[in-house]
Amino acid sequence: MQQSTSPARPVPLHVGIIMDGNGRWATRQGHSRGEGHRAGAAMVRRIVEVAPDAGIGVLTLFAFSADNWRRPKAEVGWLMRLFREYLRVERARCVVNGVRLEVIGRRDRIGRALRTAVEETERDTAAGTRLHLRIALDYSARDAILRAAQCLQPGTIPSRDSFGRLLAIVDHGIPVPEVDLLIRTGGERRLSDFLLWEAAYAELHFSPLSWPEFGPAALQDAVRDFASRERRFGGLPDAAAG
Ligand code: FPP
Repeated sequence: MQQSTSPARPVPLHVGIIMDGNGRWATRQGHSRGEGHRAGAAMVRRIVEVAPDAGIGVLTLFAFSADNWRRPKAEVGWLMRLFREYLRVERARCVVNGVRLEVIGRRDRIGRALRTAVEETERDTAAGTRLHLRIALDYSARDAILRAAQCLQPGTIPSRDSFGRLLAIVDHGIPVPEVDLLIRTGGERRLSDFLLWEAAYAELHFSPLSWPEFGPAALQDAVRDFASRERRFGGLPDAAAG
C-alpha cells in the first residue's frame, strides 16, 4: 500500500495485528481467560477509533485462527459470543465513523447467528471509506492459499497481483493492498499462519505488551518505528541506487 507514496501526502498504511496475550494478561490480573478476551475486545474498539488518525487505511486483526478451534469448548464459545456482541454493538458506530467492516476467513464452521451478524455488518458498513477494518475469523493463510490455488485453471500461472486478489476473494473479502506493517503483541515473535502471502514485504514489529494493555500510544510507537525503516523491496538503498 505504501509503494506509491508521494512525499507530500503519505498513502494510508495497511497494518495487520496479531492480538496476542489476552489469556496471560487475565491470569496476571487474577481473572478468567474469558475476561482477558473481553478486555481484548475493548482494546479493539480503542484501536479502531484511533487507526485513521495514525495513518492507517486498512487494518486487519487476527481474532480467531483456524487452529484456535483446538481450544477448550468453553473458551471458543466465549470468543464466538464476544464476536457476535462486538458486531451487534459496533455496527452503527462503524457506519457513523466511516468504517467498512469485513470478516475474512471461513464462514462454514461458525454458527448461524454469527454468520448473519457478519453478513448484516458487512452490508450496512459497505460504504465506509475512512477505514477498512478486516477481522480475520476462522482464518488460516495457508488454507486460503490452497483454496485460491484450487480456483486456478489447470496450467495457468497467475501474476502475483491477480493471485493476491484471488486470495482476498476466497476469504470473502475485497482485494486490498499488501501489508505494510505487521504487529504482534504479547511478546511472542512468530507469524502463526497470518497473512503469509500479503505480508511478504511487511515490516515486523513485536511488542512485549499484552493486547489488552497495548493502547493508542503503543500503536503510534509502532507506526513511528515503521516510518523510520528503509523499505527496499529487494532493491538497493536510495543512496546506492544512483
Ligand atoms: C490470543 O491471545 C488472542 C485470541 C486467540 C483471541 C483474540 C480476540 C480478541 C482480541 C477479542 C475479541 C476480538 C474482536 C475482534 C471483538 P491468547 O488467548 O492466546 O493469549 P495468551 O497467549 O496469553 O494465552
